[in-house]
Amino acid sequence: MTVIGLGYVGLPIAIAFAEAGLQVQGVDVSPSRMAELSAGRSPIDDISDERLATAIAGTFGVAGTGEADLAAADALFVCVPTPITATKDPDLGPVLAAAERIATDLRAGQLVILQSTTYPGTTMGPFREVLERSGLRAGVDFDLAFAPERINPGDPASASRGVPRLVGGITPAATARAAALLGRINDRVVQLSSPDAAEMAKLLENTFRNVNIAFVNQLALLCERMGLDVWEIIDAAATKPFGFMRFTPGPGVGGHCIPVDPYYLSWRARAFDVTDRFIEAAGDINFAMPRHVVDLTAEALNERSKALKGSRVGVIGVAFKPDVQDHRNSPAAAVLAGLVERGAEVRYHDPYVRQFRDDAGRVHTGVGLDSLIHWADVFVVVTGHKAVDWDHLYESADLVVDTVNSVRGRTVRDRQVLRLGAGWATGA
Ligand SMILES: NC(=O)c1ccc[n+]([C@@H]2O[C@H](COP(=O)([O-])OP(=O)(O)OC[C@H]3O[C@@H](n4cnc5c(N)ncnc54)[C@H](O)[C@@H]3O)[C@@H](O)[C@H]2O)c1
Repeated sequence: MTVIGLGYVGLPIAIAFAEAGLQVQGVDVSPSRMAELSAGRSPIDDISDERLATAIAGTFGVAGTGEADLAAADALFVCVPTPITATKDPDLGPVLAAAERIATDLRAGQLVILQSTTYPGTTMGPFREVLERSGLRAGVDFDLAFAPERINPGDPASASRGVPRLVGGITPAATARAAALLGRINDRVVQLSSPDAAEMAKLLENTFRNVNIAFVNQLALLCERMGLDVWEIIDAAATKPFGFMRFTPGPGVGGHCIPVDPYYLSWRARAFDVTDRFIEAAGDINFAMPRHVVDLTAEALNERSKALKGSRVGVIGVAFKPDVQDHRNSPAAAVLAGLVERGAEVRYHDPYVRQFRDDAGRVHTGVGLDSLIHWADVFVVVTGHKAVDWDHLYESADLVVDTVNSVRGRTVRDRQVLRLGAGWATGA
């Protein structure tokens, strides 16, 4: 089998199939990615170098898109990025480029499975059209299916056999064939009536997260105005054993999925004369959070009779979520750019991210926590990595803006910590 696109999604699935004993050819367009993998260096958090090396010594081989032999495989998985444009429209460029590449080698009897998150209608529409330029017909000469991925980088349990997979094929036979193949690496595969249904199910999962995060972000802003502590309130609501799911506020949303995928749905909805108001409202709130973090930093400095302009701000964490190196679409990019725009000097510490580009295109290089502690007037906690020495930070820092409740359970000094959604932490 062949896996096209060896990133956060493609590499784990390729290795899982190799570990299940299948012959796997991994294909990628990026020469640097291929060089890294061939040298046995894993580019992602959840696959160790040792696991990659064992797979390469076994049945997993890697090849560039040019030299790969796609006709050799019984099945081809497509796991390439599905980004959005600057105006938040879907960019199917990588998906259609992969389809074009497959079409040049496609042979009768193959199974093609699209895994990239996308809007309902992609697999049966543009993806199929490009594949059929081969002269072969989907559902007749070759099988075609959509099977969304549920992996959650940094959470090894999300990549386990126990997480059910969804699949919808162009015909019942294609669905059953794709399900049987996925059944080699997953205990439960749920069969849907069509690729469109499977595409929509994936967008429901991610839009659900995006909208609920926006809802608690808005609640956090309200709690600040009302003098309430949103974290206390979420903890209280979460004691309800049914009908409530915990979401937490923060500096914004990031990663490849949550700030991106909902726009595939809202774009598609417009073709049916529907404006998805939940997605638009969630975007307004979530994308405004970094600006609010900059405002909170100015408010905290004001307490020390200092202006943001000319102050030295130490940002803690730039990855989009704790304990991973993934910083794609991280809200830290807007926080850093916003701070610099308002005249602050900015440095950051992140145990996992060596260099980081902010939203204005400036490249920042991470520094050690100690040197940041000696340098900064105020700290802004953007990502709550476990590996940060929080005791050291809170003992040494004069002023902290905490956007993720990293101060939870600590005794702090009066007016030392300004918390997103909760105001000043009560002093000892
Ligand atoms: N990262 C996640 O947590 C996650 C979870 C579920 C679903 N998804 C979805 O899976 C898809 C892939 O995401 P990812 O996070 O693995 O992306 P990624 O950027 O980590 O990896 C994509 C890989 O595809 C390669 N590539 C790009 N165009 C190519 C082409 N035409 N031919 C061959 N290789 C190509 C890139 O070089 C890269 O190595 C996206 O649609 C994403 O929304 C991601």
